Amino acid sequence: MRLLITGATSGIGKELALRYADRGAQVIACGRSEEKLQQLIVEQPSIKALCFDLLDYDHYPDLKDDPKLLDTIIFNAGDCEYIDDVLNFEAKKFERVININLISIGYGLQAWLKHLKPGGRLVLVSSSAGILPLPRAEAYGSSKAALSYLGKTLAINLKKHDINVTVVHPGFVETPLTDKNNFEMPMIISSQEAAEKIMSGVEKGKSDISFPTLFIFIMKCLRLLPSSLWNRLATRMG
Ligand SMILES: NC(=O)c1ccc[n+]([C@@H]2O[C@H](COP(=O)([O-])OP(=O)(O)OC[C@H]3O[C@@H](n4cnc5c(N)ncnc54)[C@H](OP(=O)(O)O)[C@@H]3O)[C@@H](O)[C@H]2O)c1
Repeated sequence: MRLLITGATSGIGKELALRYADRGAQVIACGRSEEKLQQLIVEQPSIKALCFDLLDYDHYPDLKDDPKLLDTIIFNAGDCEYIDDVLNFEAKKFERVININLISIGYGLQAWLKHLKPGGRLVLVSSSAGILPLPRAEAYGSSKAALSYLGKTLAINLKKHDINVTVVHPGFVETPLTDKNNFEMPMIISSQEAAEKIMSGVEKGKSDISFPTLFIFIMKCLRLLPSSLWNRLATRMG
């Protein structure tokens, strides 16, 4: 099995890269940090590293030097920044988050879709944050809600080309991304657990992988509330 994983230098992506490689898969690991990629290779020498910025449209690796086809592409890289002062809306912050969490997926699809085998799979790591409007999540939540929509439309259009799509909706996962949070993160799980859940869902051919189950169930129940009531609750959370 041959996979390309973005955001493989840290958190969920790093766990996925190491675990797939441990199971004998040929992993192409993408990240911006040369140093972190070297550390990854020290941990698992079979991994092949691609160091580049996913937002650098003009210098996207097109894998031409590597003629073998991929079984799976995991679009995992992402970032989270909160809109702390909505009245002084920071457009550049909004743009940064939308760019890495959504626009970069378009760049990757243009560059790599042609390298996916018939019967292959695209995996988009979205977030449970897209299920409900959350305080300060104007940028992150919008980017992930749009990414989930993108995944569902790709699933329709790629079916006739024999390409499968999985959209992943994690709850809170312990990674450098959430280490920055100074609020309570209910039902948080480790990046190892998250990687296991993603791998087992992908192996079963699931189109949606959402976890932890109870957390997602609660989020989906809250989504059924009238928006006026949810907005009151969410205002207290923020
Ligand atoms: N942690 C959570 O609770 C949680 C919950 C739901 C969804 N998610 C999603 O899961 C995914 C992974 O998150 P994580 O928590 O594992 O985050 P993380 O530990 O901060 O890792 C983010 C990864 O993305 C890469 N990256 C960011 N910007 C990049 C860019 N411009 N070009 C290339 N690579 C870039 C980073 O690479 P470098 O370090 O090399 O720059 C890093 O490998 C994200 O899409 C996130 O939104 C996370």
